[in-house]
Formats: sequence, C-alpha cells, structure tokens
Amino acid sequence: MTQIHGIILAAGKGTRMNSSKPKVLQTLADKTLLGHVLTQAQQLCSKVHVVYGFGGDQVRNTINDDVINWVEQVQQLGTGHAVQQAMPHINDDSISLVLYGDVPLIKQATLNDLVTQAQQNGVALLSVILDNPTGYGRIIRHNDQIQAIIEQKDANAEQLEICEVNTGIMAVNSGLLKIYLNGLDSNNAQGELYLTDIIAMAVNDGKTIASVITDNEFEVAGVNDKVQLAELERTYQQNQATQFMQQGLMLKDPARFDCRGSLSFGQDCEIDVNVVIEGEVTLGDNTSIAPNCIIKNTTIGNNVAILPNSVIEDAIIGDGASIGPFARIRPEANIGENAKIGNFVEVKKSTIGKGSKVSHLSYVGDTTMGAEVNIGAGVITCNYDGANKHQTTIEDGAFIGSDTQLIAPVTIGKNATIGAGSTITKDVAEDQLGLSRSKQTVLKNWQRPVKK
Ligand code: UD1
Ligand code: CA
Repeated sequence: MTQIHGIILAAGKGTRMNSSKPKVLQTLADKTLLGHVLTQAQQLCSKVHVVYGFGGDQVRNTINDDVINWVEQVQQLGTGHAVQQAMPHINDDSISLVLYGDVPLIKQATLNDLVTQAQQNGVALLSVILDNPTGYGRIIRHNDQIQAIIEQKDANAEQLEICEVNTGIMAVNSGLLKIYLNGLDSNNAQGELYLTDIIAMAVNDGKTIASVITDNEFEVAGVNDKVQLAELERTYQQNQATQFMQQGLMLKDPARFDCRGSLSFGQDCEIDVNVVIEGEVTLGDNTSIAPNCIIKNTTIGNNVAILPNSVIEDAIIGDGASIGPFARIRPEANIGENAKIGNFVEVKKSTIGKGSKVSHLSYVGDTTMGAEVNIGAGVITCNYDGANKHQTTIEDGAFIGSDTQLIAPVTIGKNATIGAGSTITKDVAEDQLGLSRSKQTVLKNWQRPVKK
C-alpha cells in the first residue's frame, strides 16, 4: 500500500480573529481547529507534517503531539512555498494530501475518495460549487476536464463568473508534486508561489486531473473570523445531534444541545434543552438529563435522573440515583446506587453509599458514607482546618440531624444518630446518639425591643 503523507498548512496569522492566539488554535467544540484537522489526517496518513509560522511556539506547545513532524515556514511566500517546506521529509512514491489547518469539518470519506483518485491518476483535486465564489480560486475546465486554477486576483471577467472553486485540499503523487513545485514562479498578482499552479503544470505534463466535488460547503469552509467560527460550531453541533438521534438518543431540541467531547449512551436516554456535555461522558439505559445541566468526564448508570441546573464533573453516578435540581457534583464523587443528592448540595471527593440521601443544602467533602444514611438539611463536613484536609466517615444507616457540622477527622458509627444543630468533634460509636447543644433557656422578663 502506498504511504500517505498529510501536509497541513497552518502558517497564517488569521488577523481577522482579533486574537492573541494563532488562528489554528481557536477552538470548535472545545478542540483546536488544527486538532480537528489532525484527527482526520491521522486516520489515513502514516505521517503528518504541519507547516507552521505565526505563533509557532504557541502552536507546538498547545498541540504537543509527538507523531507530528513540525515544519517551519519562516516567511509566508504562498501556499506553494508552504508545501515546498514539507517535501524534503516525504518519499517520492507516496501520496501527499494537502489540508488546511483552518478547515476543521473536512470528512474522512471525502479524503479517502481523494486519495484513492490520486493513487489512480496522480493528481486529485477537491472542489465545491458556491453561489458566491468571490475570493476563491476558480476551476477552469475544458470539455469537463480540469485545466487550471485561476486565483480571484488573477482572473478575467469571464473567469470570475465560474462558481466551481478550489477548496485548497488536494492529493498528489509526491514525486510529481516535487517536480511541479520546483517549477513554480511568483509571476502573479500577489507575487506568491501558488500551489494552485501545479494543476496547469500537470495538465501540460499530459495528466488528467481527477476531480472530487463536495456538495457540502461546510466541510470545506475555512474559518477567518469569529462569525465563521460560530457558524461552523453550530454546523458541527447540529451534525453531531443528528447522529446521536439516529442512534436512538432523544434530544428535546437538537438546536439547544452541545457536546464538546464524546458522548456514549444506552437505550431510551433523553436529554432536555440547554445541556452541555464536555470531555468523555457515558450514560447507561433509560437515563434522563433535565434542562440546563453541564456534565463533564462522568459515567452515569441506568435509570438515573439528573434534575435541572446540575453541574457534574469527573464523577461516577450509580444506577437509579437522582441528582439535583441545583446540585454540584465535583471531581472524585462516587454516588451509589439509588442514592439521592438534592438541591443546593455540593459533593467533592466522596463516596455516597447505596440508597443514602443528602437532600438539601449540604456540603459533603472528603467523606466516605455507607449505605442508607440520611443527612438532614444544612449538614456540613468541615474537612479543612485552614492548612490540611481531613476525612469524615459515616457508616451504614447513620442519621445526621439538620444543621450539623462534622469536624473532620471524625467517624460516625453504624446506625448512630446525631441530634440537629450539633457540632461534632469526637467520634460517635455504633447506635449511639451524639448531641452537642446548649440547653434552651427562657427569659421570663424579656421584652422585644420597640422602635424609638
Ligand atoms: C487559497 C487558494 C485558493 C482557494 C482558497 C480556499 C492558493 C494560491 N489559493 O487561497 O485557490 O480557493 O485557498 O480557501 O493556494 N498558508 C501558509 N503559508 C503561506 C500561505 C498560506 O501556511 O505562505 C496557509 C494559510 O494559513 C491558510 C492556507 O494556507 O491556512 C490558505 O492560505 P490563504 O492565504 O488563505 O489562501 P487563499 O488566498 O485564501
Ligand atoms: Ca483563505
């Protein structure tokens, strides 16, 4: 099998982004534009070369992928010049696939098609037909065969009428590409070395240019400013939502759903509006997520209800659990089977046992909680002494009265009870009642103050 080398052009500054970040580091669905292109390239290329220039260190440090061969283009003298920089690293009997670092939605099937055509014909070009072709290189055909690409600034009035344009993406036999690149000159309106000129050279050389035309303008759309970035973000989200629904996920409104990472799900799951999924999230069967939830890097079991306005990160939620509304589940929380975490409850680095309930206004941190525990409203595990974090252990069946502070390190034994309003500083053994309250007093002659 022929080796395939990806060459990703990423040297441009992207002035219209008005950003300190190089354009290819802008993100779409939480992943850099260059990252999207790399993912596609790495699926079919044995080696990927990234031509970088502006903000080079920033690009290299951010992407930091050791399978990439980084090629610096010190001066940006045109797309042909950019590709020239990569060629010394590429063997003649391979295929070179040229991609743009700012065209993030390119599809694998299209690239496969292009590479297959290049293997058969030597040169394959990806074009698209646009209602408004302004700015793009026009595809010049004769008897249907591609003859040349003429850039907007070099085109005559008749050529400017052509709506089939160059996407910039092409696959070419590497040996041929080297020969053509050596023949480029900058004799054009922009004084640049145009990669596009290799097409006419190949035609002169007797080659037939294989043509792949995409009917999806988004897959070849470049990002030049934040308006276009937002447009492609929506397109990406819409495509992803459609795919999820086809696989059986119910989305109440696909236009109000964002997945910035990966989501896997079982049968009969339902996601309501304004839910954001980040990182890697897994849902079991028959699980529902109510409106306005943010869920990141979390595994959620079967028959779970995530109620409105809950924020969950780096957690595990067991089968049958109920979370929220207004719950905050922080990293390393492990919520057991059929457990209930209610409103305004924060859980961090804690295990909540099977069937336990923390229903209202609590903070549970650095805690190991057994099964069937009941935590009253407003309970706080005081895990931090100002310098160090300490553990709280609450054993099976314990009952913690409302408005209790458990001063860690502390252990509440099995089936122990803590009276409401207590500040517990010492361990309470199994079945005991722990209580720390001052006696209630009644002042006989007390009078409510009156306004003067
Ligand atoms: C290029 C094509 C044009 C095509 C259009 C599609 C040429 C001469 N023209 O035009 O036919 O319709 O793309 O968007 O190829 N880059 C470098 N180094 C350089 C110059 C460019 O890395 O020296 C990179 C840019 O960062 C960008 C890509 O190459 O990602 C395209 O460059 P750009 O200047 O946008 O090309 P266009 O003039 O738009
Ligand atoms: Ca461009």
